Formats: sequence, structure tokens, C-alpha cells
Amino acid sequence: MTTPPTLRKTALITGASAGIGRDYARYLAAEGYDLILTARRKARLEEVASELTSAFGTQVTVLTADLTDPTAPAKLAAQISKGGLQVDYLVNNAGYQVTGFFDRVRWDVQRDMMQVMMTAVAELCHIFGPEMAARGFGRIVNIASVAAFVPGQAGGALYPSVKAFVLRLSQSLATEYHPAGVHVVAVCPGFTWSEFHDVAGNRAQMNKLPSFMWLDGPRVVSDAHNTVEAGRGPVVVSSWVYKVLVTLLQIIPDNWVGRLAARGTRNAEVRAEDARAGPVSPAPKKPAKKSSGKASGTAKTPARTTTKRGTKTAKRTGKQADNG
Ligand SMILES: NC(=O)c1ccc[n+]([C@@H]2O[C@H](COP(=O)([O-])OP(=O)(O)OC[C@H]3O[C@@H](n4cnc5c(N)ncnc54)[C@H](OP(=O)(O)O)[C@@H]3O)[C@@H](O)[C@H]2O)c1
Repeated sequence: MTTPPTLRKTALITGASAGIGRDYARYLAAEGYDLILTARRKARLEEVASELTSAFGTQVTVLTADLTDPTAPAKLAAQISKGGLQVDYLVNNAGYQVTGFFDRVRWDVQRDMMQVMMTAVAELCHIFGPEMAARGFGRIVNIASVAAFVPGQAGGALYPSVKAFVLRLSQSLATEYHPAGVHVVAVCPGFTWSEFHDVAGNRAQMNKLPSFMWLDGPRVVSDAHNTVEAGRGPVVVSSWVYKVLVTLLQIIPDNWVGRLAARGTRNAEVRAEDARAGPVSPAPKKPAKKSSGKASGTAKTPARTTTKRGTKTAKRTGKQADNG
């Protein structure tokens, strides 16, 4: 589809160097959008830009930014305005999981996570939402997670917390902005093939999950785009598996689900570079394994595939390599 240059709209996508963000860039380029792509890894963003310019004639602007920096959203907005661009479609996608029990992870690591996945998300909505409303057209897609419906988990405590924030913020903004022609959705994917679990360091445990629990990025993106375009939602859940799960999570009392979630171990291990020095609470007891007969112990941490989050390209394994 070729859209005349005068009618083309521009999308800003955070976390466009990999996974769901990169799939979103590909999808919107095919739909005739021009793009502003941001993440930390410039070379990755430039690869995506050149692929999409050659395939679709997309005008792509690459702006590197580290969203742990509290000044990053305002700096991005200033660069966008200086370049004479406007944002018609915002995809707040950048994110990651920090594993480990809450008091075993350094505070700066957890503060950064909240900055990237809550404050930057809200600030980018706050910057670009009013401009969209003034023009009478806008799309805001905030990538939350099925985890937003999970009442707590053992390890990675902040993840369901920040995703619940994104879900509730998006629901409120959908209500406020709808009359102005700005559609807002919270996208709640289940497990999705991407670099996410390599960065988290729990790929080995995740690979044990059955294939029906895995989603492909392009599926998540097309469901998100179709819903936001139609002004439906504001909550988007892909696949019957996760629709059933989310429905159950809303029916079953939180205290019951919380007790079940406390038995999970896939997010229990803190990555060495995130570990807090000094005293921490005693190691929590893990449920004994029935079949092995071995004494229960701490789940083994799979080999890390990044030295420091984002400073090195994550090694991609298995089917995940098909995702881009
Ligand atoms: N995969 C899943 O199972 C799953 C399920 C539910 C929800 N989600 C959500 O989906 C979103 C995308 O994740 P994904 O699965 O596509 O993971 P991914 O493949 O690891 O991609 C994450 C993206 O976020 C960017 N990012 C990370 N830290 C950043 C920072 N400090 N500043 C700027 N950008 C940063 C990364 O780029 P750089 O490293 O280049 O900066 C990368 O482009 C996240 O919000 C995640 O929570 C994922």
C-alpha cells in the first residue's frame, strides 16, 4: 500500500530495536506510516530503518535514547519537534523484566525499571496526547502484559506492579481522550517470542513451556493495531488461551491466585549484576519437587546472554530467531 506523502502519519515506537517494537515498526511501515524509532542500540535501529525504507519507502528517523534517564522523554520530544515532525501514533513498548526477590535486587535497578516502564510511559502520553487531541486524531498503544492481572508473583515483584500501572493508566486515558479522536489501548500479551527472556536470564525455564502458551510478535501487533484503529478495547488480549486466563484471573479471588503464583520459581534468581550487596532476607523456601526425590533448592540461573542490560546484543535462541 502506498500512501501519498501529504497524508502520511508518523508513529513513534519505543524499544524498536528488537521483539514486539521491531514487529510494530514493520507492521506500521507496511500500513503506510512514517516512523520515529527509539531504543539504546543505534546499529539495530538503523538496520530496521534501512530494511523498512527499502521495502516500503518509509521515512524513518532514528533517535537513540536510554529511557532510564528521567530527561529522555523531554529530550526526545525536543528532537522530534526540531526535526519538524509530529507524533500521530505512539507505541510505548520498551521494557524488560528484572528477576530476583525484591530485597535481593539493587534499588537503582528497580528504580530504573519504574522509570522506563511507568514514568517514561506516562510522560510520553502526557507530551504527545494533547497534541494529538488538538489535531483530532491520535493513537496511543501502551504495551502492558497479562502479568497486569496477576496478583503478585515470587521474584520480579515489580513486573506485575508496573504492568498494572500501565493497564490502569491506559484505561483512564482511553476514557479521557476518546471524545477528542485519540484512541488509547493497553496491550496485554502473554509469553511472546522476542529477546525478553534472554535479557531476563530465564530463557532455559521458559523454553519448558508448551508451545500453545507462546505468541508471535506480529500477532500481538496486528491485534493491537486493529483494536486501536477501531476505537475498541481499551484492553487487548491475544489468543483464546490468554483470554480464558485473564477472565479466570478476574473471577478467582486474588488471595487464591497469589498463593499459586508464590510457588513459581522462574523469576526467583537475581542476575549477578543486579544483586544487592549487604544483608538480605533469608532465602525463601521452595516447594519440594515430587518426582526427582532430590531436596528442593534454589532454581539454577541459566547462563546470562547479556553482560549488562542493553550494552550487548542478546544472543537469540530457538524459535525466537524466527521473530526477526
Ligand atoms: N516477550 C514477552 O513474553 C512479553 C510478554 C508481555 C509483555 N511484554 C512486554 O513487551 C514489551 C516489549 O518487550 P519484548 O518482548 O519485545 O522484549 P525485547 O525483545 O527484549 O525488546 C525490548 C525493547 O526495549 C528496549 N529497551 C530496554 N531497555 C531500554 C531502555 N533503558 N531505554 C530504551 N529502550 C529500552 C530494547 O532496546 P535496547 O536494548 O536497544 O535499548 C528493546 O528494543 C515490554 O514492555 C515487555 O514488558 C513482553
